[in-house]
Amino acid sequence: MIHELTNPITKTLITRLRDNRTKALVFRHTIKEITKQLIYEALKESSTVEQNIDTWQGKKSFNTLDEENIMVVTILRAGLPMLESAMELLPNITAGFLAMKRDETTHKSVLYYDRVPDCKDKVVLLVDPMLATGGSLNDALDVIKSKEPTKIISLNIICAPEGLKNVEQNHSDIDIFVAQIDEKLNDDMFIIPGLGDAGDRAYNTIEE
Ligand code: PRP
Repeated sequence: MIHELTNPITKTLITRLRDNRTKALVFRHTIKEITKQLIYEALKESSTVEQNIDTWQGKKSFNTLDEENIMVVTILRAGLPMLESAMELLPNITAGFLAMKRDETTHKSVLYYDRVPDCKDKVVLLVDPMLATGGSLNDALDVIKSKEPTKIISLNIICAPEGLKNVEQNHSDIDIFVAQIDEKLNDDMFIIPGLGDAGDRAYNTIEE
């Protein structure tokens, strides 16, 4: 199921990302803020466990998320700030990494690095800012599903409707939380209006 954030604060941050004047440092910071908003929504209905902690009034039990059962997996490289953000919010979750590169000619994604640990009994938050054709997400979901997590939730900043449809057709069982569903893909499979190449913008690798 697809859930799009509607909060005006989210939309303000998306506009900041689209603005060409937004330099890499602020770009990554903004991605991280939106990621936190996505996580709040995605884990809104999660159950909690009781944790016994030392407080100023002695030992007491309080509700907390079971962080040990949560894993965040990113698709390098544009997803890296999202992974950092998830781990700043929930420092005890586990991290996994997939590296994929979209072939600019065939528009297909190629997997060249898989460092996702055992996912059994874990909820996996799969983070990648851009969902264009959906090819990368489809492939990443295949890889993660083979590791048998209890649930996968995809967190994306900007999606194209075409890509969302593609992923829904191939993986109807996963929830997708997206900050902004844009208009369409262009002939080069870039999201319109989008924000350009998120990886390049985040890491100052735009070639003139
Ligand atoms: C971007 C983005 C996704 C992918 C989306 O990564 O971060 O991983 O493209 O496109 P798709 O839905 O058509 O598969 P890119 O390949 O540009 O690599 P990068 O993160 O290194 O910039």
